[in-house]
Amino acid sequence: MTHLPPPSSATSIDEASTYSKPRIVLHWLSAAVILWATLSGFGVVLMDPTHPFRQWVESINPQVTSLFIPLFAWRLWLAIKSGPQRAHDNPHKRLASATHKAMYAVVSGVLVTGVLMMSHPVTLLAVIPLPQLVHSEMLLMRLHDLHHVLCAILAGLVTLHLAAVLMHQMQGRSVLGRMKVKNIAR
Ligand code: HEM
Ligand code: HEM
Repeated sequence: MTHLPPPSSATSIDEASTYSKPRIVLHWLSAAVILWATLSGFGVVLMDPTHPFRQWVESINPQVTSLFIPLFAWRLWLAIKSGPQRAHDNPHKRLASATHKAMYAVVSGVLVTGVLMMSHPVTLLAVIPLPQLVHSEMLLMRLHDLHHVLCAILAGLVTLHLAAVLMHQMQGRSVLGRMKVKNIAR
């Protein structure tokens, strides 16, 4: 077991374990995509299906989130690669690590079900064709339900994640420094 000296300030926590530049950029990019897709996706369900904003969201979101798939795969790969150096020996860090792993797993599930449940072909950026992969009505309905459930679980995990970041902030043990865009310039 390794014993690190207790952090004397937020800066010492940050300096001990900042993330690499690509991981920081990819984190904030995925946070923007995921928060937008979650809030707008659930938000428009309250609107009339013919409302122009709902129709715009339902046509733009599958495109934005499909384009996000390679970026998320890259992010997942970087996280897997860094795994052994970030092995944790204290319960708090293990809990944070388990939540991060759960977020990766659930986002993967959301992306896979999203692509499979498309009930019509989509053209990304009016150039890249994304064909309809599943044609059975029954299976499409099941995938839609699964996508819905996974999106709700993801929203719960993201809420926990944000609560943990906020809690650390309020306790004066900020972890935001590890994800600081400023670190990119280093
Ligand atoms: C970051 C990943 C994603 C998130 C957070 C997300 C989130 C959501 C949410 C919250 C909903 C509303 C849930 C409901 O209908 O009850 C939804 C619906 C939907 N999503 Fe996703 N989604 C993601 C990825 C994808 C992908 C990759 C596709 C397809 C390429 C997709 C296609 C759809 C479709 C077709 C709907 C149903 C709209 C309707 O009911 O007509 N999603 N998504
Ligand atoms: C505005 C919203 C967000 C803030 C302020 C935020 C903040 C942070 C911070 C400070 C860390 C470093 C924590 C540490 O090392 O102890 C972190 C890591 C992480 N965050 Fe977020 N986050 C946000 C949104 C999201 C979203 C939407 C996701 C969804 C997947 C997410 C997934 C992760 C993951 C998986 C990590 C672990 C590091 C990595 O593998 O990139 N975050 N976040």
